[in-house]
Amino acid sequence: MRKTLLIIGGSRGIGKAIALSLAGSGWNIWLTYRSNHAAAEETKKEIEKSGVVCRLFAFDVADYRATEEALGKACDETPPHALVYNAGIARDNLMVWMTREEWDTVISTNLNGFYNIMHVVLFPMLREKRGRIVVVSSTSGQIGQAGQVNYSASKAGLIGAAKALAREVGRKNILVNVVAPGVIETEMTEELPQDKIMPLIPLGRFGRPEEVASVVNFLCTEENMYIHGQVIGINGGLAI
Ligand SMILES: NC(=O)c1ccc[n+]([C@@H]2O[C@H](COP(=O)([O-])OP(=O)(O)OC[C@H]3O[C@@H](n4cnc5c(N)ncnc54)[C@H](OP(=O)(O)O)[C@@H]3O)[C@@H](O)[C@H]2O)c1
Repeated sequence: MRKTLLIIGGSRGIGKAIALSLAGSGWNIWLTYRSNHAAAEETKKEIEKSGVVCRLFAFDVADYRATEEALGKACDETPPHALVYNAGIARDNLMVWMTREEWDTVISTNLNGFYNIMHVVLFPMLREKRGRIVVVSSTSGQIGQAGQVNYSASKAGLIGAAKALAREVGRKNILVNVVAPGVIETEMTEELPQDKIMPLIPLGRFGRPEEVASVVNFLCTEENMYIHGQVIGINGGLAI
């Protein structure tokens, strides 16, 4: 029987690369996204080329009811073998200018969304007494980033949440880990000033989504696994 990955925010960028990587390993993919239907349909087509099944779920992770409605029944009937919490947004501004809306939107999506997803998926996974959870945080959550107080707070919050969760569910054979990407080539980073950031990266280049996906694939698929409650930086040396 094929295993199933539930990827939250899997239609574009890093999430898409993760979905394609696990599909390539023979996993069926349940892919969630918010509103970009065209990108999701395109990703689904690419996933299906691996001969696996791909189901799409469109909803806003910041909306508890919508999350429950979209995923509750499916996860209760067939708990996924791995869950990757990847959905995330940035609304950058210096703290002194940051609007309440910029703060709330980022925290609601990146951090409250984690609660909403966990509340729907965790109990079914616990029932199975097996599983892998990977949370996509960020270097900004590890070391902080000027202009990203909201984003850094949400991503640091995810690290704390994942570590605490790891302590709760380890005995149920659910392994929880975090990946913390640095600057990865996606739509989110298209506008960044390359000339200012590049000198800070010892490898001298931005990362590729596939380079995050290969680590997540390992954390989801490796059978000989004693990595639990860890934060794995994927940042070209940006944070050492
Ligand atoms: N790119 C980087 O350099 C970088 C570095 C460190 C960490 N990260 C983190 O890695 C993750 C992916 O980043 P990315 O650059 O690949 O982002 P991206 O290209 O903007 O893709 C974001 C994905 O999340 C979904 N999403 C966003 N808000 C959502 C919401 N409210 N409800 C449901 N789904 C939502 C999007 O769905 P739609 O397509 O429908 O919008 C899309 O599938 C994020 O958590 C980000 O913070 C990125």
